[in-house]
Amino acid sequence: MAKIKVLSENIANMIAAGEIIDRPASVVKELVENSLDSGSDHIEIQVKGYGKEEISIIDNGHGMGYHDALLAFERHATSKIREASDLEKIHTLGFRGEALPSIASVSALILTTREKEAEIGTRIVINGGKLLKVSEIGAPMGTTVKVSSLFKNIPARRKFLKSNPVEFHHIAQILQQMALSYFQNSFTFSHNGRKIWHLQKASSLKERIQQLFDHEMIEHLLEIEENFESFQIYGYISNVTFMKPNRTFQYLFVNQRAIRNQLLLKAITEGYRHIAPQGQYPVCFLFLTIPPEKVDVNVHPSKTEVKFLNHQEIFTRMVNLFKDRLSHAHQLPHIT
Ligand SMILES: Nc1ncnc2c1ncn2[C@@H]1O[C@H](COP(=O)(O)OP(=O)(O)OP(=O)(O)O)[C@@H](O)[C@H]1O
Ligand SMILES: [Mg+2]
Repeated sequence: MAKIKVLSENIANMIAAGEIIDRPASVVKELVENSLDSGSDHIEIQVKGYGKEEISIIDNGHGMGYHDALLAFERHATSKIREASDLEKIHTLGFRGEALPSIASVSALILTTREKEAEIGTRIVINGGKLLKVSEIGAPMGTTVKVSSLFKNIPARRKFLKSNPVEFHHIAQILQQMALSYFQNSFTFSHNGRKIWHLQKASSLKERIQQLFDHEMIEHLLEIEENFESFQIYGYISNVTFMKPNRTFQYLFVNQRAIRNQLLLKAITEGYRHIAPQGQYPVCFLFLTIPPEKVDVNVHPSKTEVKFLNHQEIFTRMVNLFKDRLSHAHQLPHIT
């Protein structure tokens, strides 16, 4: 008798959730990414109980029609890519069609959405992956997703969550990254009904940095802007009088996506090698723009890592750029 069985859709979703959704911050990340992809310019993030109790994301994006809203919870259902070749030119933050079904399989979720032209919206209630109710409802344009009781049906995973302050810190980190990358958008963020921040739309990265961080920081930042043939880089790096004991303040983005990347981190270290004291790390906000076909974003479950086709060139150019900028700022001879 055959021993192998294809797993049910809900188990498949829970397994996918195991990779994508490992803590409240990953729910926040996936939902805010969806809101950004939907063209919202204002996003409201309401968190209760450090994200362990409830997370609501409210956007004013293009919303979904009745059928799309239902389809959005099917595994691998996406409006963002159509065919294999699209994977080589991804212009959106999402593309796998996995986030919503994964989140819905490990929480209690209510989605309310209305398209601009539609007179009526749609409300979908799902619990532990089970569709409980679909109804038509009056709703503002855009989409609201409320996720509660995260991992209620996987106690083992819930046990692995860290302390309240740690989980909350992860949420704040993710939101900070998104607020930096989408500085033209306004964001509000509240916890247990208390406002954490309200960010008005900013007209520049510099203005958003000023909204988010101590005013002292901006005085120590050097602007970086360079257009190479194969990529562009824009942002700020700190001068050597403003260093931190770790890499927490090193923000890296590729095509507006926040990423961690060893090559870029190494380029920063290398650029500061002869002028920064050992164990001190510069602050940086670096935005690389690379043609999508030259960077693979499909290499990590949470899409926080990327692979560059021309990594050696990027490394060398960045190191030289940092050295050059720093030597000008500090009037040092250019050390190679
Ligand atoms: N806030 C939103 N506003 C409008 N449409 C949305 C929103 N959230 C999700 N959708 C629609 O639902 C689809 C499924 O969302 P989901 O996050 O599961 O997948 P994705 O964003 O396409 O890919 P990924 O799994 O990489 O995030 C999206 O492709 C989009 O069409
Ligand atoms: Mg998504």
